[in-house]
Amino acid sequence: MRWARDGDTERVIQSRAPERQFASDNLAGAHPAVLEAVQRANHGHALPYGADDYSKQLELAMCELFDHDVVVRPVFGGTGANVLALSCMVQPGDAVACSEVAHIAVDEAGAPEHIVGTKLIGLPHERGRVSPGDVRALASLRNSQHHAPAGVLSITQATEYGTLYSIDDIAALVDAAREMDMRVHMDGARIANAVASLGGGRETFRKMTSRAGVDALSFGGTKNGLLFGEVVVFFDRQLADRSLNLRKQVTQLPSKMRFVSAQYLALLKDDLFIALAEHANAMARELHEQLVDLPSLHLDHVPAVNSLFPTLAKSIRQDLQEWSFFWDWDVSCDLVRWMTAWDTTSDDVKMFAAGVRERLSR
Ligand SMILES: Cc1ncc(COP(=O)(O)O)c(C=O)c1O
Repeated sequence: MRWARDGDTERVIQSRAPERQFASDNLAGAHPAVLEAVQRANHGHALPYGADDYSKQLELAMCELFDHDVVVRPVFGGTGANVLALSCMVQPGDAVACSEVAHIAVDEAGAPEHIVGTKLIGLPHERGRVSPGDVRALASLRNSQHHAPAGVLSITQATEYGTLYSIDDIAALVDAAREMDMRVHMDGARIANAVASLGGGRETFRKMTSRAGVDALSFGGTKNGLLFGEVVVFFDRQLADRSLNLRKQVTQLPSKMRFVSAQYLALLKDDLFIALAEHANAMARELHEQLVDLPSLHLDHVPAVNSLFPTLAKSIRQDLQEWSFFWDWDVSCDLVRWMTAWDTTSDDVKMFAAGVRERLSR
């Protein structure tokens, strides 16, 4: 808490930092149901490396979730999930096309290049989204021995700019990729937020993945309420042929896998993952509602998921970040990111909005 200089009680209250920050959904702890599931799984001995009952149950639960015969590979983290998925999809000599702001391109320390050994081709984007036209334009790379042809298209749902691909958008991207003989990977670090936003529950999830022709999904859990852990879901069993060995090779094989699987089973039970994401999305909409009248923030879009991307001049930005931390997103245009989580409360939103308002009015 930063005390107001004049001791005015109203300002002291307004300056109190919210208990939960707005930097990332990664800052939140684990949901109680997830912790209980871990506690329950912490019973006796269980076979390691995925031979335990929880991991077997998870595979069945995922088949039911997607209404598809899927192969499920639990891993430690999101970067690891992307690296494993791409390792299984990339053929020798292939490149991976993705938006130039994709997490795999900017925030994975070059892991896809270093570990998968592939070139990433950055596609132009519109608030994080790539277009079928730009995918088709990759055709020119196929005609020359001096270029790496794109063998995989990786899209992020929800995107790094908090936007969404509709079910039709995904179908159009998959069509374009298929014309180019490319596989499609979906980075779903925040897929639950996308499912919640597009409505329709499991059916929507199926339409945007298995039924759309996506080949592999990094199904995020950490940002959605897990302690840690993600899973790669392969919709094409053939792609998963070498995934067991590759998971070990890319150092993503948890020996006590029951603890990752048990957490996912808790998330899937009664569609908790959708409910938690729905709440995070609703908190982002509340924050937007409370600050949309401040023109300098340029909050032009109602958040589709759990993030907002306002504009904040450097001096105000730094002052606010010192009070309640959040990340810069694009310093070249003073863009920052505010993000809500499954445990964000309306009180947190009110306090944060009051703090922003106060600093902007100084
Ligand atoms: C779009 C996206 N993909 C993947 C990840 C996974 O990253 P990590 O390796 O930190 O779990 C993140 C995390 O911020 C992300 O935002």
